[in-house]
Amino acid sequence: MAVLHVARMGNPVLREIAQPVPPDSIRSKAFQQFCEDLLESMIEHDGTGLAAPQVHESVRVVVFSIDGGDPIFLINPVITPLGPETAEGYEGCLSVPNLRGKVQRWSHIRVDALNRAGKSFAFEAHGWPARVVQHECDHLDGVLYVDRADPKSLAFLGEYRRFGPPVPLPEKDREDEDEDADEGEE
Ligand code: NI
Repeated sequence: MAVLHVARMGNPVLREIAQPVPPDSIRSKAFQQFCEDLLESMIEHDGTGLAAPQVHESVRVVVFSIDGGDPIFLINPVITPLGPETAEGYEGCLSVPNLRGKVQRWSHIRVDALNRAGKSFAFEAHGWPARVVQHECDHLDGVLYVDRADPKSLAFLGEYRRFGPPVPLPEKDREDEDEDADEGEE
């Protein structure tokens, strides 16, 4: 087990298109160890999620945990929006520490991926979990949430806590998302 160093914005690894994981390598000892290290790093850095490029491995793997629940690994994930609805919410990122910004995401998605046993699985996600998955999977395509954020919404965490969101969320998104930005960085 090892806690891996998190790459911060400006490190080119965060801007690469990550490589698919060959399915027949998923059960290898080295890959399973990497998954353990990714999870341990997410926990140690108090993240809601972590993508492999954030720990300098440009491969299509993410892990996340909603409200301290069981960690979910997504290998070679594919996101399909279900319906046109989007929602705004504040996000943070371990690679962009101590910053928050408002991002528009699909409200309802389907996710297809391989699990740690190399088996395909799929699920639907709404609201905060859908936001977390979209944020993490963006890392696999070299995209950071600040690329998508409303520039005027960006705030340092201390100021965000002190003054509240610089650009308020629309009424329809408030109940679902308003408090989530304090829940951790991804
Ligand atoms: Ni992130």
